[in-house]
Order: sequence, then C-alpha cells, then structure tokens
Amino acid sequence: MTTVVIYHSKYGSTKRYAKFIADALGADLKDTEEASKLDFADFEIVVLGAHLMGFAACPPMKKFLKSNKKYLIGKKIAAFLVGGTPPQLIDRNALIEKSFPEEIRRRIGAFAYYRGAMDYSRMSFGDKLVMRIASIVMPDKAKIEKFDAVKKENIKDFVAVVKKL
Ligand SMILES: Cc1cc2nc3c(=O)[nH]c(=O)nc-3n(C[C@H](O)[C@H](O)[C@H](O)COP(=O)(O)O)c2cc1C
Repeated sequence: MTTVVIYHSKYGSTKRYAKFIADALGADLKDTEEASKLDFADFEIVVLGAHLMGFAACPPMKKFLKSNKKYLIGKKIAAFLVGGTPPQLIDRNALIEKSFPEEIRRRIGAFAYYRGAMDYSRMSFGDKLVMRIASIVMPDKAKIEKFDAVKKENIKDFVAVVKKL
C-alpha cells in the first residue's frame, strides 16, 4: 500500500517524527509546501503531522487541509500532532476536533500525540513573545524551559496501527 507522510514543522521536532514514521512505513515524506504539488492518486494512505499552536494544528497545516480536502476525502487518514504539553495533560478529542475539518476527522483511523521540543534561544521574536504571555497566563515552568522529548521509540504503536489501516 502506498503511503505519504505530509507534515509541517517550524523548529524541526515534527519533521523528526515525520521522518521516523515515514522510514518505519517505507512511505514518501513531504512538507505541506511540497505536498501541494502531489498527485494524490498515487497514495492510498495519507499520514498528516503538525505541531501545535493555540492547542490546534498549526496554521500552515490547516491551510493545507482546506486547500486539499477534496483529495483527502477518498483516502485512509492517520494523523499525529506534536506540542510542548506532556501527553498526560492532553485532551486528545478536543485537539482532534480543533485541528481537523469534520470530513477529514471522520477518516482518521490512527492518531498520536507526541511531546516535541522547545528552545527559547532558537525562537523567533514573535514566538518568544507568545510563549512569554502564555507562561504568565499558565505559570507552568515546564512549558518555558528548554527541552527535547523527541524519541524514535515513541512512534511504535502508531506505526503498528497505520500498517493495519
Ligand atoms: C508560538 C507557539 C505556540 C505554541 N502553542 C502550543 C500549544 O498551544 N500547545 C502546546 O502543547 N505546545 C505549543 N507550542 C509548542 C510547540 O508545539 C512545540 O515546541 C513543538 O515541538 C514545535 O514543533 P516544531 O519543532 O516541529 O516546530 C507552541 C510553540 C510556539 C513557538
């Protein structure tokens, strides 16, 4: 079965997960920009991966979904989201609802949430500002420290489910 992993990553952690998953599935790997030129007829399964902003998939992924909804509706869909929040604090249903349009949501047969990475020293001025404001509203120190929680072994369960779609 032919599979493509389509992702958007700003600082690289979602890209690292996308690559682990594509390698494990023997799938093609495209970012949302490259994927806008894809011939979707070539693929049976589409794996979508995005980092979180405002507890939803990032705007470039939302834009991609809006523009390509008609091609995705006929596919088996799997999705993963990457954020700074530890997985045990994530409301997965709320995240899926805020991230994917209804027609795509209904087709999601495999879902995973992973904790990504954050490094203030590498962030744009605007992103730093957003994170500073967020840390005032939600004073959870874990959110503002530098961390890297990306691990290849995290993808195992998700990949096993995608293989059975
Ligand atoms: C401006 C901004 C907003 C973010 N919003 C959220 C959020 O709402 N929830 C969350 O869990 N993580 C949030 N994060 C953390 C990122 O999702 C996390 O660092 C992720 O690993 C980044 O992925 P990337 O390395 O692929 O860009 C935010 C980060 C930035 C810079």
